Amino acid sequence: MIQGFILLRIFNGVFDYKNSINILNIIMTSTPVIKCDSVYKIFGANAEKMLQNSNGNVDAKTFQDAGCIVGVNNASFEVSKGEMLVVMGLSGSGKSTLLRCISRLTDATGGKIFIEGQDLLAMNDKQLIELRRSKMGMVFQSFALLPHKTVLENIAFPLQIKGGETDDSIKKAMEMVELVGLKGRENYFPRELSGGQQQRVGIARSLAVEPDIWFLDEPFSALDPLIRKEMQDEFLRLQGVLNKTILFITHDFDEALRLADRIAIMKDGLIEQLDTPANIVLNPKTEYVRKFTEEVPREKVLKIEAIMDSSVSEKESNSISVSKDAIIETVAEKILSQEKPANVLDSNNKVVGSVKPSKIIQTVFRTVKEK
Ligand SMILES: Nc1ncnc2c1ncn2[C@@H]1O[C@H](COP(=O)(O)OP(=O)(O)O)[C@@H](O)[C@H]1O
Ligand SMILES: [Mg+2]
Repeated sequence: MIQGFILLRIFNGVFDYKNSINILNIIMTSTPVIKCDSVYKIFGANAEKMLQNSNGNVDAKTFQDAGCIVGVNNASFEVSKGEMLVVMGLSGSGKSTLLRCISRLTDATGGKIFIEGQDLLAMNDKQLIELRRSKMGMVFQSFALLPHKTVLENIAFPLQIKGGETDDSIKKAMEMVELVGLKGRENYFPRELSGGQQQRVGIARSLAVEPDIWFLDEPFSALDPLIRKEMQDEFLRLQGVLNKTILFITHDFDEALRLADRIAIMKDGLIEQLDTPANIVLNPKTEYVRKFTEEVPREKVLKIEAIMDSSVSEKESNSISVSKDAIIETVAEKILSQEKPANVLDSNNKVVGSVKPSKIIQTVFRTVKEK
């Protein structure tokens, strides 16, 4: 199978050795791209000692009284290849600190972090620099563009730092300009661009080195709501093409729901719940999480799968069909346009359930508890 896979990659065009080996590694071992194992980050002079004495039971208040601030408290999770995990929480909940630990911009006080199976905390400086330059891309809320360089020069900059030829760097940067929809503006300076356009440059710059892992810390938080929505759509489109492994941070629950494969909700350094958007909305584990979900319109987040009757596997003739993965809102009108139940299909067009029009009404008005 392995030889077949490599042959396939050769026949498909240019043989990309490094990429093939990476993919093979992941197929063979299904190693998570990011793995955190009881990660703690505690600020303060006695942080390490206090953590040791606590036996892993860190109480933020007790630590604070002793002069320590708990940034991240016992975080354990995995992110698989191509997955987008959104970390959501109010300001000060520890989101940036968690991201900084995983990118090792700061050293965790305790726990283990693995990147594609490699122990991050055991890496030396050289390995770390190489990892960050070749595997990780980062985008922050402040665009941090170089004011005296053009769009194209800003995007080419990380490639040149890596030692790329100027011509190659510029060519690659131009591809990125097109990818993020800035063609025609490549010779503008940052001050000549809107906030949304500047963040597109930030995104293009971070993508230029073709990172496998993409960290984004509140990238759209400084943008006004309309632009923000547009950037979210654009971001989803990009991810559809690029399929990166992503850790995306936001304080905006709606943004998390729109983007995430899974959401981790943080409070006081703790991950209160880590689950799919639908499960978080349907089964909030704590009062804190429930508060966020209260106002969320079910039909905007839930997929048909969450409300279908899965005991039905026979096709209803002369009825419409919808995908189990469709967000309810996008097919509601279609289902309500007839009296018969709609067929629910999986990705192989197999019938996996049915949805009655009345179920749509009940979901919108919340007269039933969804599955
Ligand atoms: N370098 C630091 N020194 C001391 N405390 C810090 C430091 N960085 C962050 N903190 C504290 O850690 C907590 C989490 O901060 P942060 O991760 O920035 O939150 P978020 O990104 O969710 O807004 C906050 O209480 C913050 O004050
Ligand atoms: Mg932050």
